Amino acid sequence: MITVIGSLNMDLVINTPRLPKPGETIMGRKFKQVPGGKGANQAAAIARLGADVQMIGCIGEDQMGQVLKQTLEKDGVNTKHIFEKKDSSTGVAAILVEEFGNNMITVAPGANYALSVDDIKDKKAVIQDTDIVLLQLETTMDVVETALTLAKEAGKKTILNPAPAWSLRRAVLKNIDVLTPNETELETLTGGRIDTEQKLIDASRVLIKNGVGEIVVTLGEKGCVHVTKDTAKRFHAYNVKSVDATAAGDSFNGALAVCLERGDCMDAAIEYAMKVGAMTVTKEGAQTSLPYKKEVDAFTEWLKKGEE
Ligand code: RIB
Repeated sequence: MITVIGSLNMDLVINTPRLPKPGETIMGRKFKQVPGGKGANQAAAIARLGADVQMIGCIGEDQMGQVLKQTLEKDGVNTKHIFEKKDSSTGVAAILVEEFGNNMITVAPGANYALSVDDIKDKKAVIQDTDIVLLQLETTMDVVETALTLAKEAGKKTILNPAPAWSLRRAVLKNIDVLTPNETELETLTGGRIDTEQKLIDASRVLIKNGVGEIVVTLGEKGCVHVTKDTAKRFHAYNVKSVDATAAGDSFNGALAVCLERGDCMDAAIEYAMKVGAMTVTKEGAQTSLPYKKEVDAFTEWLKKGEE
């Protein structure tokens, strides 16, 4: 069982020929509401890849919240531990997606920030009844820190996707087994500019020295780098036609959790997660773009045939 602790947002998405400059108004192309939120996306990705997953999160007592919860249920995510709070509105994300898939996202966290430390403590037994706990940073830092502490005390494997970028207290680092920042997030975590692979490795090693188990730095179309205390290995991205990068990081993290739960080695887990992330950018939207296990299997077969 994998437990995802994190956000649920309704994404308000406008496709646009290009991203506007500050102060500029431009005319977009189309508008859609799509279920999203990094936590919910990761939970949905896990369910679609065939693993058991439960989510701890929070929505408001409103229609958007119900839609988000029902969408997860349809995918097979256990939503029993999602709180509904009267005085908060469900989280919303404003997303602009330009022609070749790059995006800009602003989140109004709403109910995601109403998820409290006490809520997490109430779910201690749920955390204990799991193999892997997967978190992001769209809930409050207190919630993230408490969840990581409880998970580690219970001897669980923890994965933290430190998105959106936020710095972490040193004391928290020892509770993270696998950290999955992108370049910008790694810069925020370590406070320096990262413009070479060596700087990326050095920055990762600083975090490892301070307690993180291992790090996978995602680099979009440039692939990713897996850094441990003694090793650093580059993985190349799959060459696909990018339509919308939204949720690619989320599906990557979900896939990584699925593979690590079933006992794959990190190399195999990253290879699989790279495929899942690549497939996600070929479709529009957040949860609308997450691939199912059989689609990933078909993609794997197709890649194999290309190698023959
Ligand atoms: O990672 C993509 C997600 O970030 C979107 O679904 C949006 O809700 C924001 O949380």
